[in-house]
Amino acid sequence: MSVIIKDIQQAVSSLKNGKVVSIPTETVYGLAANAGDHSAIREIFRIKQRPLNHPLILHVAADWDLTKWVSSIPHYAHVLMKHFWPGPLTLVMPTYPQQNTLITGGQDTIAVRSPNHPITQFLLTQLGDPVVAPSANRFGKVSPTTAEHVQNSFQNEELLILDGGRCQVGIESTIVDATQPEHYQILRQGIITETDIQRVLPQLSSKEKSQVRFSGQLATHYQPEKKLFYFSFLNELEALSPQKHKDLYVIAFSDPKETLSSNFSYFYQLPNSHEQVAFELYYQLRQADMSCTKAIAIQLPPEGEQWKAIKERILKAGSMLPTTEI
Ligand code: TXA
Ligand code: MG
Repeated sequence: MSVIIKDIQQAVSSLKNGKVVSIPTETVYGLAANAGDHSAIREIFRIKQRPLNHPLILHVAADWDLTKWVSSIPHYAHVLMKHFWPGPLTLVMPTYPQQNTLITGGQDTIAVRSPNHPITQFLLTQLGDPVVAPSANRFGKVSPTTAEHVQNSFQNEELLILDGGRCQVGIESTIVDATQPEHYQILRQGIITETDIQRVLPQLSSKEKSQVRFSGQLATHYQPEKKLFYFSFLNELEALSPQKHKDLYVIAFSDPKETLSSNFSYFYQLPNSHEQVAFELYYQLRQADMSCTKAIAIQLPPEGEQWKAIKERILKAGSMLPTTEI
């Protein structure tokens, strides 16, 4: 059985002894192994049921020297680290040919970030080595934002889960391809947006198409257990039969009762700001999964750059609301 612990030293010893430990970060919980321990890293893939060619993010303490892991750091990447680390920004940079292929997915790059969570920063300095960590969910599923979520996903594993409370960002880090010296490319949207990056790198373009292979581009991802449907406008729900209304857990920006004649037994009203929606998104999808409805229907966010990360995740997790069968 997985166990939730509060003792950071116990987590450090366990990592030193070659065990996988779930750690809190500001984005989502991770499944961590010491980055120098090949068999512990293999164990991450087994627990997560993740294909071996999907690379892992290296998590480092904020002020660590990266030269052992990264072969060249573009000037602008230094600027981004100075500005956003510790924080929800991952940089993909060139690495050495002899790097562990379980970390790189067999590519010549490595993804690195410094999580903005005091417990994990302390854990890293105590451990003295970086850890590699994917999100602590089974492959393709919703990422966990509490220690209990991790425990629920891995009931039958002997996993230590270091409790750091609820993740404050709530969605995974923004990933930037920083392999080219003159330009960068966002590979995965996150709470740090293109505008935030442009603000600190006003002279740099992000126009070029990235050559980096990125597995987050799979058509489906972030999936709850129940079927997830998305819709743009609340009146799309009106077309469904009353029985379908009973079967649906609705997550929307405004209360259907105010615009529709129909009644939904399960409804969660999303907050207005993109930061608050990011904080709630996975948490509420898990709440919906625990309800007795058959399926979940979620409203897509409005247009706008700050909503891209949330929209991207909903589109990958679900499919368009059908007007007939659920
Ligand atoms: O917020 C986060 O980034 C969380 C927390 C735990 O730090 N981690 C996370 O890891 O989301 P994961 O493994 O679920 O997603 C990392 C993504 C994967 O899609 C992987 O393919 C990509 O990063 N990635 C890792 N290394 C890469 C590399 N060298 N080149 C391109 N993509 C890479
Ligand atoms: Mg993940």
